[in-house]
Amino acid sequence: MNDFQQEVRERIAANGRDTDMREAGQAFLRLSAEQRYSYNFAWLGRPIIQYPQDMVAMQELIWRVRPDLIIETGIAHGGSLILSASMLAMLDYCDAIENKQLLDPAQPRRRVVGVDIDIRAHNRTAIEAHPLANRIDMIQGSSIAPEVLEQVRHHTEGRKTVLVCLDSNHTHDHVLAELEAYAPLVTPGSYCVTFDTLIEDMPRGSYPDRPWDVGNNPKTAVRAFLKQHPEFEVDWEIDHQLLVSVAPEGYLKRVR
Ligand SMILES: C[S@@+](CC[C@H](N)C(=O)[O-])C[C@H]1O[C@@H](n2cnc3c(N)ncnc32)[C@H](O)[C@@H]1O
Repeated sequence: MNDFQQEVRERIAANGRDTDMREAGQAFLRLSAEQRYSYNFAWLGRPIIQYPQDMVAMQELIWRVRPDLIIETGIAHGGSLILSASMLAMLDYCDAIENKQLLDPAQPRRRVVGVDIDIRAHNRTAIEAHPLANRIDMIQGSSIAPEVLEQVRHHTEGRKTVLVCLDSNHTHDHVLAELEAYAPLVTPGSYCVTFDTLIEDMPRGSYPDRPWDVGNNPKTAVRAFLKQHPEFEVDWEIDHQLLVSVAPEGYLKRVR
């Protein structure tokens, strides 16, 4: 590790211990979640329901892990699918340059598969019309339905490095079932990113029209899952780096 990288790691660790920084991050998360700030952004033209910090974290993670398959639950408008597809396109491009090979954009090597219980027609049309659509597969159905899981598993065949993002129904039971079903698909060294764990840190009753709340959300599911699955660990360095994230304690690394 060079001096600059060392300095960055030390600063991230120090930021993570800094109570003022952490509280400022929490205060911003509370206020901005109330204001539906996560709906303010787009990635290459498609609305993405994320915070910019998590988008940058995903960029760093995808570059580091170099997956050849990303599986996402929760498509909505398709922004996160397009983000993943764009990073995978960049990896294919960089591989071609490094290996002095010709790149055939009609035959993308790395792919994304997205699952959603309700792919709205206008979203499907826009995603299918996107220039990156030929590396995206979409499956409609509940992410934990056996027939959906069978299709997802089929997409993992022959893949070397698989990364998973869970961002669908945010109840404890649903996310725990997703973790049990999707985490085994994650290859060692890669990640299962579980979004919206921040619900646990919001004031109780913040989501009156939703079934999730404090005590029943992705973070409670992650904690239950980790008790039974020592092959996964929270990557705390990402939390300390971001400080503002909808996925605190949700960047799960498969360590073996
Ligand atoms: C927060 S949005 C996804 C946002 C998207 N990942 C992004 O970053 O732009 C949640 C999505 O999960 C979907 N969803 C809800 N319950 C689901 C289930 N049981 N299985 C699959 N998808 C589900 C909803 O239809 C909705 O589109």
